[in-house]
Amino acid sequence: MRNSNVQKIAISQLQVGMYIQDLDCGWMAHPFFRSRFMVKDEAQIQTLKEHGLAELYIDTARGLSVPDAPSKAAVVCQLQQEIKALVAATPPPVASSDLQSELPRAKKLLDEANKVVRQLMSDCRLGAQLELTPLQEVMDKLAGSILRNPTALTVLSGIKTKDDYTFFHSVSVGVLLLAFEHSRGATAEALMQVGIGGMIHDIGKMRIPPQILNKPGKLTLDEFAVMRTHVAHSGEILAGCAGISAVAMDIAMQHHERFDGTGYPFRLAGEAISPAGQAAAIIDVYDAITSDRCYHRGMPAPQALQKIFEWSNHHLHPEMVRAFVKCVGIYPVGTLVSLESGRLAVVQEHNEGDLTRPKVRAFYSCRNLCYIPPVLVNLSRPLGFGGGDRIVKSENPSKWGVDPIRFLQF
Ligand SMILES: [Fe+2]
Ligand SMILES: [Fe+2]
Repeated sequence: MRNSNVQKIAISQLQVGMYIQDLDCGWMAHPFFRSRFMVKDEAQIQTLKEHGLAELYIDTARGLSVPDAPSKAAVVCQLQQEIKALVAATPPPVASSDLQSELPRAKKLLDEANKVVRQLMSDCRLGAQLELTPLQEVMDKLAGSILRNPTALTVLSGIKTKDDYTFFHSVSVGVLLLAFEHSRGATAEALMQVGIGGMIHDIGKMRIPPQILNKPGKLTLDEFAVMRTHVAHSGEILAGCAGISAVAMDIAMQHHERFDGTGYPFRLAGEAISPAGQAAAIIDVYDAITSDRCYHRGMPAPQALQKIFEWSNHHLHPEMVRAFVKCVGIYPVGTLVSLESGRLAVVQEHNEGDLTRPKVRAFYSCRNLCYIPPVLVNLSRPLGFGGGDRIVKSENPSKWGVDPIRFLQF
């Protein structure tokens, strides 16, 4: 199927006889329908409206079309241009420690944080009172790493296994929130609170039956209703937790609210959602769609950013999404990319003034399907001056069976 056969339409334009290609609500994990289907009756359209869908994609080769609706190819091209314009002049983050020296320190701290969060979750599953002191202690150290070099922890927190999703996702959301709030000038104390909020944002999931929480596939409508109760469970758990801040509470209670009022549990809209809640909503979605699960492969970061940018039309805070895209950059360090020369490379460092042409380390031949001696390529330089190559697209490491992070450290 070609993107030129696919149109983007508003939900108000949807009619019986159209073939839905993508409900465009990956953040909702849409348990209600198959993702692709022919619209058979008005009741289906009504149900989609009730679930807060704003826009969607239809396949015009398999059903009716809408005159003048933009093609998916045109939409993607426009989004890419807007993102490029947004990040082109963004300076790379200021760092007092270089990536190579911060990575090993960040790795140790992340291992420590993993232990603390794992213990916290297991205590919670057993019904014990939450004890925040160990989390506060490790968060202080994590904030220190973010202040020295925000890239190191962010890169490492992106490495996850398909198992134990709730745990890895919680740690990763905490780290991304730290990095994002740091980029927006938060104080050390504020960093501490958002980091804690991120790490415990899904703590209520410890009260969800494991067969639903860890189901290897799409949830049924009833199961999804149970899953949504995790927010209320988090509220109960955290209400009895000494020393929990209002910011951390907002993150736990509001990360499923949506800017257009279509989220849950309170259907809050616009500025009624706290800034921490808005930031958490963006990062929760970003981490979810970039993660590999047993039933789907995660999107590479650049594609995920494009989706987040698209959803800022309705579901996510537009200005905050722009700030997040600037913070993460178009090709985050650690991203796997394929180059015009037929090599795979990992994004190593950003070039000041042009985040679209970073320094990368090429390490794999796509033509010969084998590793090659790693070589640094500066994509902002011409051939003969250490450059002369171009990014074709971002790639999913699991598709190629490679670990790009290995080639970041030398
Ligand atoms: Fe959640
Ligand atoms: Fe979450």
